[in-house]
Amino acid sequence: MNILVTGGAGFIGANFVRRLLARGEDRVVNLDLLTYAGNLENLAGLEAHPRYRFVRGDVGDRGLADSLLAAEKIDAVVNFAAESHVDRSLEAPRTFLETNVLGTQTLLDAARAAGVGRFVQVSTDEVYGSLGAEGRFTETSPLAPNSPYAASKAAADLVCRAYHKTFGLPVMVTRCSNNYGPYQFPEKLIPLMIANALEDRPLPVYGDGLNVRDWLHVEDHCAAVELVLREGRPGEVYNVGGENEWPNLEIVKLLLRLLGKPESLIRFVPDRPGHDRRYAIDAGKLRRELGWAPALPFADGIAATVAWYREHRPWWEQIRSGAYREYYDRMYGAGGRYGAA
Ligand code: NAD
Ligand code: DAU
Repeated sequence: MNILVTGGAGFIGANFVRRLLARGEDRVVNLDLLTYAGNLENLAGLEAHPRYRFVRGDVGDRGLADSLLAAEKIDAVVNFAAESHVDRSLEAPRTFLETNVLGTQTLLDAARAAGVGRFVQVSTDEVYGSLGAEGRFTETSPLAPNSPYAASKAAADLVCRAYHKTFGLPVMVTRCSNNYGPYQFPEKLIPLMIANALEDRPLPVYGDGLNVRDWLHVEDHCAAVELVLREGRPGEVYNVGGENEWPNLEIVKLLLRLLGKPESLIRFVPDRPGHDRRYAIDAGKLRRELGWAPALPFADGIAATVAWYREHRPWWEQIRSGAYREYYDRMYGAGGRYGAA
């Protein structure tokens, strides 16, 4: 297939592009705006790949989408492009709505006009909101997003649903839990904590540190997206998760142990506004219908991830010394939202 991957210079998208090319896909075209989160170093080594093309551009640019779909004879679209960080969505929600909702709608329109055969919308478990101590989200759980980020993803999911119901567009939606692995931007919990620990800087834990997330290695997520792309039923939603729940504080302590750093680096800081308490995913539908299961045990995946960030210090040091530094100071510095750190 000729596949258009959007957001392929980000964390999950870059892992997905690498995966498709390694598996011998006919052609992979990567459309990415290269926002602060997009980094061509995530795709280093692919520049001259004969079956790969990078195009810098906005998913909200209809003319560009039309011309790419036609010129590259695109059979399928996988939409990873998004503003993805909850804390940023508290500061600047509009960009989230523009990219995540209108960008998706633009791509859907272009895909419809071009007669694209498959469209995968990469969504998130955050659309379901927050759980108490019990239960898991299924595909039929009500949508109850709590952050502007989550609301924008839920809105996009509903637009996808409407394009399937109304226009018959073959759209599948995946909703995954928290990913970890190589190339994750160091604003997210795991890489931020690893990088801070390696620099002997404080580790800012929001609230009481007992919020629970379900962690899945990015390769397992990419495998799920690929499976849905090839075999998913149009109009369906598929949950993806690791059955691997951890309170944040335990993850932070685990990382410190793996890095040989002291727990005295931990700092409790003010809580994230609207902080979802717990996410847990029931991925039974994907397991039953398409035979997916996570392949990488968490103990192995997290050890490999810690090793990757140790071995790729220049990758994250460069990010942390650039424009991201201003964001970090604004969030975690004196007077910032999480200013106690
Ligand atoms: P990321 O922030 O690392 O990457 C996002 C990419 O999208 C960047 O390369 C950025 O340049 C690009 N982008 C942003 N706006 C764009 C625009 N207008 N046009 C074109 N490209 C644009 O994000 P990620 O963590 O890799 O997440 C990828 C997708 O997976 C997102 O849709 C996110 O909602 C979803 N998701 C992420 C997780 C997770 O744990 N990270 C879990 C479930 C779902
Ligand atoms: O569940 C899927 C979602 O996971 C994706 O849709 C999002 O794109 C992705 O960013 C992620 O959202 P979270 O808000 O769960 O991830 P984050 O890494 O920002 O935070 C994970 C948990 O750690 C959360 O409970 C907040 C907490 N946290 C985070 C940071 C950055 C801290 O305690 N301290 C921190 O400095």
